[in-house]
Amino acid sequence: CGIVGYIGYRNVCDVLLDGLKRLEYRGYDSAGIAINDGNEIEIIKEVGKVSDLERIVANVAPKGKQGIGHTRWATHGGVTTVNAHPHSDEYKRFVLAHNGIIENYHELKEALAAEGFTFISQTDTEVIAHLLSKIYDGDMLKALTSLQDQLRGSYALAIMDREDKNHIYCMRKGSPLVLGIGEGESLCASDIPAILPYTRKVMYMDDGEIAQLSSQGIKVWDAKGTPIQKKSFFIDWDLSMAERGGYPHFMLKEIHEQGGVCRSTLKGRISGGSVDLSGELSMDEHTMISFRAVHLIACGTSYYASLIAERIFERWTDLDVKVDIASEYRYRDSKITPDTLVVFVSQSGETADTLAAQRKARACGAYCLAVTNVQGSTLARCCDDVLLLKAGPEIGVAATKTFMGQITALYLLAMYIAKVRGTFPIERESELIDELLQIPYKIETVLEREHLIEELASKFAFSQNFLYLGRGISFPVALEGALKLKEISYIHAEAYAAGEMKHGPIALIDPNVPVVVVAPKDSLYEKTLSNIQEAKARHAPIIAVGFDGDERLASDADHVLCVPPTLEEFSPFVTVVPLQLFAYHVAKKRGCEIDKPRNLAKSVTVE
Ligand code: G6P
Repeated sequence: CGIVGYIGYRNVCDVLLDGLKRLEYRGYDSAGIAINDGNEIEIIKEVGKVSDLERIVANVAPKGKQGIGHTRWATHGGVTTVNAHPHSDEYKRFVLAHNGIIENYHELKEALAAEGFTFISQTDTEVIAHLLSKIYDGDMLKALTSLQDQLRGSYALAIMDREDKNHIYCMRKGSPLVLGIGEGESLCASDIPAILPYTRKVMYMDDGEIAQLSSQGIKVWDAKGTPIQKKSFFIDWDLSMAERGGYPHFMLKEIHEQGGVCRSTLKGRISGGSVDLSGELSMDEHTMISFRAVHLIACGTSYYASLIAERIFERWTDLDVKVDIASEYRYRDSKITPDTLVVFVSQSGETADTLAAQRKARACGAYCLAVTNVQGSTLARCCDDVLLLKAGPEIGVAATKTFMGQITALYLLAMYIAKVRGTFPIERESELIDELLQIPYKIETVLEREHLIEELASKFAFSQNFLYLGRGISFPVALEGALKLKEISYIHAEAYAAGEMKHGPIALIDPNVPVVVVAPKDSLYEKTLSNIQEAKARHAPIIAVGFDGDERLASDADHVLCVPPTLEEFSPFVTVVPLQLFAYHVAKKRGCEIDKPRNLAKSVTVE
């Protein structure tokens, strides 16, 4: 879900709707705003997109200088107007927007109902509004500290009191909330893009904190109600980065930004022909040498970036390498020791499962490193070290450019650690570094071939099932390609390690199941060609991604998407791009909602 709150001199309605549109990637099944017009708080909610809400709001045109808004990704309670946020107590005195899940809502609801409180929604959030109205005795800070003691689960909350036109209150535990410090105005939001049009000076709330926003500034207290001074950050993203800039979709814009993302993620990190991260990582040589194992932990696309990095760490370092999905890692019995480096890969730095996995690793004494796109994110603040991707804000729900930023950052990390540990193939250093610096240009060459990929997408846009195959470092690329297709076109796509196809998925193959094979000319190339033959023998149409000038592949496959050749280690940087574009154009041909695919949210801040 996405929250936005504003207090200041502007027309709050415009600020809230604009903010909700910028946060819509976080949830888009219903939306609502609440505005204090000076006498009462007007709440307007609607099922559907923010644009649906906007149509209704246009008729009502509520005016005010203080308000909150919410765009929902349903957890408790179906998608209905009543369940949409903001929610309030019975007297519409306390109105709030919530992101997260209140785990003890059922028992709280029963207790409140027994005391005569009546509920109109099925949400866990309404419980908070009733509870606040019960606790409140004239002192909001006291009421909120007591509220925190009674709520279990996760929340980011923006709260208004009808009787207090000068303040908005915020609380957070487990779900992200950023505060924007403006001139004569203050904001809160689940993510930076909603704040960016007004100010670039922000503070990130930490768990247990309570904030009071006014047009004069922001005050923050800790969980005990003691005032605290928080550090503010300056966001070096500009507004155009969070806008479509002439592209029909954010996803397409972001795919096209990937050469630049790779370039900026490399920038300043290679000097004298060698990777040097000593200026930004606090881990020293002694620490790096003491590591025995590295674990890479992530969800979704970030997990696939980690699977690519796994092979690179295995190749260049002598560490035991393990990769896991955060929601699994957090509950299993992996051996996490103080000499384990745990790398958490998360675009947003706010994914609930990844944060929980980090807490587990921290408790085991491991060294925690965040690879993230968001400098002040919860993950970045909880880890011992941070390596940033320089991708700029990603708005399309299906991750593309952040995947590129992640693999770039992870390669740099693997190279750096390997070098410090003395395991890097030093005789190949200049060859590898030179090629890495060429990668952004090669990505851009692939992007210039978009029209060919679009043509191919028209041919296959109405297939119902796809199989994606790849070996070695191309296996995670196949996984990511299939994920992109599933996410935005809703076509069933299954990715397999090419050599494993014969152990099951081969049964699915027939002339209606296109097989997409990632087949760069690497040490496993011949084996991949054999797998193409196996699929061909069952009459599957073969779409291959391979290197320019590969005639053998061209004769074996029905269609080839060519990318510029690169070293074996770096092929994912170029082979993933045609798969992203293919998914995009298939989804477009099918008329899908590309930037906001059904049921998905960009940042999943609940377990
Ligand atoms: C969601 C998004 C995915 C993303 C995953 C992990 O499922 O829809 O695109 O890969 O979360 O997000 P993170 O911010 O941790 O990389």
